This record gives sequence, structure tokens and C-alpha cells, in this order.
Amino acid sequence: MKINKCLFPAAGYGTRFLPVTKAMPKEMLPILTKPLIQYGVEEAVEAGMHTMAIITGRGKRAIEDHFDISYELEHQIQGSSKEHLLTEIRALISKCTFTYTRQIEMKGLGDAILKGEVLIGKEPFAVILADDLCINEEGSGVLTQMLKLYQKYKCSIVAIMEVPIEETYKYGVIDGKELEDGVFMVTEMVEKPEPSEAPSNLAIIGRYILTPDIFSVLKSTKPGKNGEVQITDALMTLARTGMVLACKFKGKRFDCGSVEGYVEATNYLYNLEREK
Ligand code: G1P
Repeated sequence: MKINKCLFPAAGYGTRFLPVTKAMPKEMLPILTKPLIQYGVEEAVEAGMHTMAIITGRGKRAIEDHFDISYELEHQIQGSSKEHLLTEIRALISKCTFTYTRQIEMKGLGDAILKGEVLIGKEPFAVILADDLCINEEGSGVLTQMLKLYQKYKCSIVAIMEVPIEETYKYGVIDGKELEDGVFMVTEMVEKPEPSEAPSNLAIIGRYILTPDIFSVLKSTKPGKNGEVQITDALMTLARTGMVLACKFKGKRFDCGSVEGYVEATNYLYNLEREK
């Protein structure tokens, strides 16, 4: 079955970037000249997805305006030397349909994904956390890599990477049985464990492919870590009754939810641009 929809939970406050996120969504922070969420949408389009389902909240209208035409601006720069600066985003917008719904209360990533049920329906879908910027210079993007695996196994999949054991408290962490090179069948999954309790150093990053049965599981998932409904807990339920895979992706991942990762991503992409 083809996956056509990609969900972007984008309701979070972005407190680590205050004060810049006071009046601006964190998903709109620029890496060079493009906002973070645009990189995510480009990755989804590369993977053949054309419906972007965005979970927003109060103060996030700039996201909707970004994926729309600004007639005044278009008119202003038409025929000028700056017109080309909008070509890329215009082409991206024309390939996609953007749908939105709001998460009213911040009750966790699992709750945000559940709010997307109305936009997704009963089909498998992808999830991108735009904070995690992923670049693969050598080949296809992370979602495309995961999609290939989905075609083979037809189950929910999370992307993982190895992290230093002292950093497990920042991530969902898995354990599993390696089925093929870098592909694990999940046997355990814990949200943000202390290093002493982590089942491994394989951390989940912000890319998921989810089967629609996740919605009914989320509805009965009790709040977990930090009193929030966790997608990690819901996926563990799916892993117990069926199969969930974890896939080590190829490429680089920048944690743009932290100032350090954000600066790293900016420098990395700036150097790439300069080399062109
Ligand atoms: C979320 C997930 C976590 C995952 C992480 C990846 O946490 O809950 O399992 O490892 O994204 O970035 P957050 O970073 O939103 O706290």
C-alpha cells in the first residue's frame, strides 16, 4: 500500500529557544533561508508523499502562511532579480495539499499524533518531527529509506541511531533482534530512560511510519513519562501484539530542538552550499 500522508506534530512551545519562540513557531526557525519544517516537507515529498497533515496550536499561523502564496510579495518581486528566491517554495507548495488541525492542550507526542487521526483516516502514514533535521548527502532521505522497509514488512517502523549511553534520557530507546543489517524487530521500547535503565544505546529519532491501528492503541495508552501520552508506549503495545521495526538510517541527524544542534546544522548546510 502506498503511503501518501505525512504528519507533522508542530504544536510544541519550543521553550528551549525562548525568547525567539515567544511569537514565532519553532518550526519556522531558519536554517539558512528555509524554515525547519520546509526541510521536513521536502523529505516527505522526496518519499512520494503529497498530503502534509500538520498538528498546530496557538501562535502557529506562520506555518500556514508559509505554505501558501503571498500575493502581495509575488506581485512586488515579479520580474525582478529576486523572483527566483521563491521558485523552490512555489514548486513545493504546488505538489502538496496541506491540512491542519490544532492540539488544544499539550498532552504529549502520542496525544498530538492521535489528534491527527481526523486528517489521516485509516491508512498507514509517516511522521516527521521537524526538530530533527536529517540530511543524507550520499543517497535517499530517511523517510525514503524507511518506506522501502515498509514495502517489505508492512508494519510500523521507527528510525534509530546510536547515541552515547549517558544521553539515553533524551530519547525513546529500543532493544530488539537484528533481522537484517541495521534492522531490528523491537522487543523493548522505553521513553527517556536513565542510562542505568536503558535497554541499549539505540535511540529513536523523529521519523516514524505508523500503521493506522496506532490510533486505537493511543486512545487507551495512559500518560507515561512526564505525565504525557507517549508514542513510544503505544508502539511498545503494538510490538507486543504484532511487529514493530527499528531501522538504523543512513545520513546525518541534527537535533535542531537544541541551540547546539541548530548551530551545527546551520554550519553544515552553509558549508554544503558554499561547495556547490
Ligand atoms: C520525542 C520522542 C522520543 C524521541 C525524540 C526524537 O521526544 O518522545 O521518543 O526519541 O522525540 O527527537 P522529544 O524530543 O519531543 O522530547
